[in-house]
Amino acid sequence: MTVVSSVKEALSAAVPALEAAGCESARLDAELLMADALNVDRSVLVAHPGMAVSPASARVIGERVRRRVAREPVAYILGRKGFRHIDLLVDSRVLIPRPETELLVEIALELPAGASVHDVGTGSGAVALALLHERPDLRVSASDASPSAIEVARANAARLGLVLELEILSGLPQRSFDLVLANLPYVADHELPALVREISRYEPRQALLGGADGLDPIRDLVAQAALGARLALEHSPHQAAAVRALLAAPVTRRDLSGRERVTVGSAR
Ligand SMILES: C[S@@+](CC[C@H](N)C(=O)[O-])C[C@H]1O[C@@H](n2cnc3c(N)ncnc32)[C@H](O)[C@@H]1O
Repeated sequence: MTVVSSVKEALSAAVPALEAAGCESARLDAELLMADALNVDRSVLVAHPGMAVSPASARVIGERVRRRVAREPVAYILGRKGFRHIDLLVDSRVLIPRPETELLVEIALELPAGASVHDVGTGSGAVALALLHERPDLRVSASDASPSAIEVARANAARLGLVLELEILSGLPQRSFDLVLANLPYVADHELPALVREISRYEPRQALLGGADGLDPIRDLVAQAALGARLALEHSPHQAAAVRALLAAPVTRRDLSGRERVTVGSAR
């Protein structure tokens, strides 16, 4: 006999398990994992709670829920994350792109046609690829100190059909650009244990930690930049004043929650 359960039954098993594991958005997570396994939009689950779940799909969902119970991020379990208007492949080699980082893209969108932009610490390629997707007239390049992150960025560029110049490099290339964008690691080393498990257990340390006050990679980048080079640097809100102090004519932009998130200025 073929045992078939329903979406409602599967959700009523998954949601309490995720809640008990401390997942903050248990229902949403369960729906995302399930919708992907069933290859339907999440709204379909809500509209059709009686929809059948085959034993094979139930096994896939069960395995995904087990991973989420261990607090693996949903994006790593699904292997992808949306960022602005593109969908990116992500795995444990790269940071999961965050909504606040879209501010770096928005700043670069203000550049005139044909301007050159370089994304330092590109990770999955999120910033550079989203920018190239929206502004194919710009000359966009990107680099990362991590060879495995560059592999992910290359796979994303190929999948999106975007031609992005990528290189493995620590710090800034020795060329000039109209604007350098950087979401470098900025978590202070001592803050790591206080981060949620999704981050501290699963995201790459090289993408997170920035030394005693979190600002070592940003300071190194600014020190490498030629006099007058324009930089847009993402940081945590409490680091805004310290980042402004590194630059000439700094202006800090706020994210959608009103927090100081990206500082734009010139190297001096
Ligand atoms: C916070 S992650 C950001 C990834 C991506 N830009 C994003 O916003 O999703 C920082 C990235 O910088 C890279 N990285 C760390 N130190 C670096 C350095 N000194 N030079 C270049 N890349 C660096 C890491 O490998 C990681 O991919």
